[in-house]
Amino acid sequence: MKRLAVLASGSGTNLQAILDAAADPAYPAAVVLVLSDKPGSGALSRAEAAGVPTEVVTWDEHGGDRRAFTKAVVETLRSHGVELVVLAGFMRILSEEAIHAFPNAILNTHPALLPSFKGAHACEDALEAGVKISGVTVHVVDVEVDAGPIVAQAPVEVRDDDTPESLQERIKAVEHDLFPKVIAEWARAEWEVVGGRTRRRGRVPI
Ligand code: GRF
Repeated sequence: MKRLAVLASGSGTNLQAILDAAADPAYPAAVVLVLSDKPGSGALSRAEAAGVPTEVVTWDEHGGDRRAFTKAVVETLRSHGVELVVLAGFMRILSEEAIHAFPNAILNTHPALLPSFKGAHACEDALEAGVKISGVTVHVVDVEVDAGPIVAQAPVEVRDDDTPESLQERIKAVEHDLFPKVIAEWARAEWEVVGGRTRRRGRVPI
């Protein structure tokens, strides 16, 4: 059973999907901590409702210094004995100290098919580009933002009448299914990272 922390800034619907999945005793990870940079966020309320310990580390209390912020996050994760970290709508970029502290053990969900539409406005950018298919990417967090090894992707159709909000909602529905599954596979060590790519263990080399 892996000790899992979820980092979230927003409403926490992905956190909820993870909490729901982890309620199954067969799930290979236990959510031992929800950490947010936003006091009062929906994610914290969901954690409290589920009886999961919470911590808040704000950007401002570290003077907007990314390294100091990351150091505090890493110390908090360590103090809870965390082994696996997932970013579920965590709107802060961690410095490389976090990647070194948790090598190949931080996963993120991104609301687009990477490497397209990196950054915080993926749905707006997909609509502006006029793509007909966008989607979800679950990837390992690396030093470069939205660029770590991809673990899984799923497509989502872009509709003619989509707004960024409507597209985001359909993408989230897919994330809620995909992300908890990928986290479980990662926790069970079904994947490995080789040469900047992921592959299922035991398969022939790419
Ligand atoms: C998700 O769509 C995620 O991909 C993005 O932020 C959103 C978080 O939503 N990074 P929620 O807080 O889980 O509802």
